[in-house]
Amino acid sequence: MNLVGEAYGFRVSESLSDWPGELPAMETRHGIVIGDARGLAELADDAVELVVTSPPYPMVEMWDEVFGDLDNDVRTALDSGDGERAFELMHAQLDAVWAELSRVLVDGGIACINIGDATRSVGGSFRVYQNHARIIEAFEHHGFVPLPEILWRKPTNSGTKFMGSGMVPPNAYVTLEHEYILVFRNGSESREFEPGADHRYEAAYFWEERNQWFSDLWTEVRGEQQTLENGELRERSAAFPFEIPYRLINMYSVYGDTVLDPFWGTGTTSLAALVAGRNSLGYELEPSFVDVFRDRIGSVTDLSKSVGRQRLSAHRAFVKQRRDSGDRFEYESEPYGFPVMTTQEESLQLYAVRDVVEGAADGGWWQERVNAGAADKRHWYRATHGPIDE
Ligand SMILES: C[S@@+](CC[C@H](N)C(=O)[O-])C[C@H]1O[C@@H](n2cnc3c(N)ncnc32)[C@H](O)[C@@H]1O
Repeated sequence: MNLVGEAYGFRVSESLSDWPGELPAMETRHGIVIGDARGLAELADDAVELVVTSPPYPMVEMWDEVFGDLDNDVRTALDSGDGERAFELMHAQLDAVWAELSRVLVDGGIACINIGDATRSVGGSFRVYQNHARIIEAFEHHGFVPLPEILWRKPTNSGTKFMGSGMVPPNAYVTLEHEYILVFRNGSESREFEPGADHRYEAAYFWEERNQWFSDLWTEVRGEQQTLENGELRERSAAFPFEIPYRLINMYSVYGDTVLDPFWGTGTTSLAALVAGRNSLGYELEPSFVDVFRDRIGSVTDLSKSVGRQRLSAHRAFVKQRRDSGDRFEYESEPYGFPVMTTQEESLQLYAVRDVVEGAADGGWWQERVNAGAADKRHWYRATHGPIDE
């Protein structure tokens, strides 16, 4: 068995000796800067290994005010009916964030950007504003290499969605029912790891999860994990479904890594990082969202246990199904004893959150990543995790 906490350079808390299972606990850190992500001024070079985010969507009306506050010319362009200029000015605000990502992300680190296109009439003319294409251009400009992207299908209220489009050709428009997860690598080379690096192999996913997660079409991401109960708040904060950052974090980072969300919102990315046992950092303009996050992490222990147990039970169901159809397995999970498809899954180990403490930024982990600044603009959390062993 590996001493997980020690392997990743984390302090192993003695108070956790009552945590069931053979492995000692590991710790993760989570920090939020209340401030403007344009420039990411507080972050050190190479501070993070993964970026997962969903920015405000240019030309979607609910974000006009945010973009107007970032640059008043946006309002002038919209008022004068110049949609193309408003679109470009809004993207210029996002560009200021994208421009710094290659500095704060390690070489070979992955950036995943969830974005939807917008349809809108401005100055009497209807068109689609292709946010995804404009963001791909910006990332390429900053030295990122595009990787195959994912489309996820949003839940729709069928029936009413075509209202107004009529039944006669040719002037109706199709409805946008998907969003993009754009995936980029920072530079031309992938990250390198020591051969057999424990923290990489323990962070493995199951073969059948790989087949689902690495498909370019996600159709059921809403699933059961509703982590923002209040529908109105979910709408106002535009939180993405928990399943999106949770999958991306498992797909593109290992234990010990830090995930950055520069458009943090109510912290779905940090919540997913907690559940997946990774560190996280976030930037957010709206200070009240930290209170929402505080409420959300009240149930993170239960959430992480249920997510972990669901993954294990889905794997057991997969094993049964294969065996029932006469297939055999050659490999066995070390911690769980059940069969797995490949040798790469043998050390896969899931963790649940034991405890989250809000407090001061203690020690070198922060200093290596975040420069000093106004303490009231920062929120720090330290979490302990224990292995899920059933
Ligand atoms: C689409 S929402 C992100 C929602 C988030 N993924 C979640 O699940 O809660 C975009 C967020 O970016 C924030 N924002 C916009 N511009 C920003 C900037 N320049 N710096 C920091 N935060 C910004 C907005 O306040 C908003 O909360």
